[in-house]
Amino acid sequence: MDKIAVTGGKPLNGTIPVSGSKNACLPLMAASLLTDQVFSLTNVPDLADIGTLSALLRSLGATVTHDAQNSRLDLHFARISSPLAHYDIVRKMRASILVLGPMLARDGAGTVSLPGGCAIGARPVDLHLKGLQAMGATLDLRDGYVHATVPRSVNGGRLRGVSFRFPFVSVGATENLMMAATLAKGTTRLVNAAQEPEIVDLARCLSGMGAHIEGAGTSTIEIEGVDALSGTEHKVIADRIELGSFMIAPAITGGDVTLANADMSLVGALAEALDAADVSISDTPDGIRVVRKNGTIKPVSIITEPFPGYATDLQAQMMALMTLADGISTIEERIFENRFMHVPELARMGAKIDINGGVATVTGVDSLRGAPVMATDLRASISLVLAGLAAEGETVVSRVYHLDRGYERVEEKLRACGAQIERIQGAD
Ligand code: UD1
Repeated sequence: MDKIAVTGGKPLNGTIPVSGSKNACLPLMAASLLTDQVFSLTNVPDLADIGTLSALLRSLGATVTHDAQNSRLDLHFARISSPLAHYDIVRKMRASILVLGPMLARDGAGTVSLPGGCAIGARPVDLHLKGLQAMGATLDLRDGYVHATVPRSVNGGRLRGVSFRFPFVSVGATENLMMAATLAKGTTRLVNAAQEPEIVDLARCLSGMGAHIEGAGTSTIEIEGVDALSGTEHKVIADRIELGSFMIAPAITGGDVTLANADMSLVGALAEALDAADVSISDTPDGIRVVRKNGTIKPVSIITEPFPGYATDLQAQMMALMTLADGISTIEERIFENRFMHVPELARMGAKIDINGGVATVTGVDSLRGAPVMATDLRASISLVLAGLAAEGETVVSRVYHLDRGYERVEEKLRACGAQIERIQGAD
């Protein structure tokens, strides 16, 4: 397993190109199940999760060509030859559940392993299943699998449009039902839908395939089902979590970094928080510029919320920054119940953090010290790298396979700005 070694204390200066969004790309890839024509994505990040979903789609019958050099992915489901998403792949990545809606929509049948629990909480998929049931699917939960079919009595085996209200906001469930609804008979109305930029990107892609969708990016989305969808070529939006993580890098080390290919509308809540911390953020023709020169970091309190609120996927990174703030800040996690696993690791580096339920109270310290630490999940891993960039001495982050799920060429991008960071391949 690889490790990453960081020697801290160097301010960062330069430009970091932001890659295409992993979280947008995964549902987009699942949308390829909705057409028998070639479906192409550009600006695709070269990440482990993209490989995992590619393997799953291949196992369902897709021809997949990934041209990593050109960030391009071509997917072709002439037919869904084997509509079974096996546990061996689903257990690696929860987003695999996103194939269920499209399979049901296209062929009226699909079997998907239930994703297990994961490190950051229970994360059930009940909303995905309830929504599909409301659209006429019959579900049989057996042997750890969801066996789903649309009975012939329902429109001859075709999902039906419904009005479905989410009791709380779920990004994945909104995506799954939106895709399912594109080929359903009649109109579907999703109320209290997620408004994340990844939802808007998916709607744009589906519309390019001939789907009729209105309201994506608001809390009510209306989808009028059509008989068939065509292939398309779609450019994936920038990764707002990678962007946000790298915005925090010069904030924690000091320096002057521009994030290229990025758009401020993707990170409004983070930009506000950084501004409150006294980090300068500006929109320039070259990208988002983040500057911190010498001054202290002010404490800022945040609460994680669905978009456009502060993203849970940027919570651990902000905590790393707050460990060095001049005062006390609070960080409240409202999306996932167990997303503070980075706290004991940050504490190993000298951070002072108390957890009480879903609230972490961070008392800023003058400096962090490098230490061996362990990555526990994707976003926790980058928070440890960020802390390492600011700490005195060397930090070695183990289990970086978590990091590799979501950050493309992280060492290379940070090194180009002057960071002292290296991958130690195959260490223990
Ligand atoms: C997506 C993102 C993830 C991000 C999260 C919240 C992808 C691939 N992943 O995950 O990076 O952290 O949004 O912004 O895009 N829930 C249920 N039942 C369900 C579905 C969700 O109880 O059927 C709960 C979850 O446990 C969680 C909350 O709803 O507490 C939000 O989850 P959701 O928005 O669905 O997250 P994901 O789509 O899994």
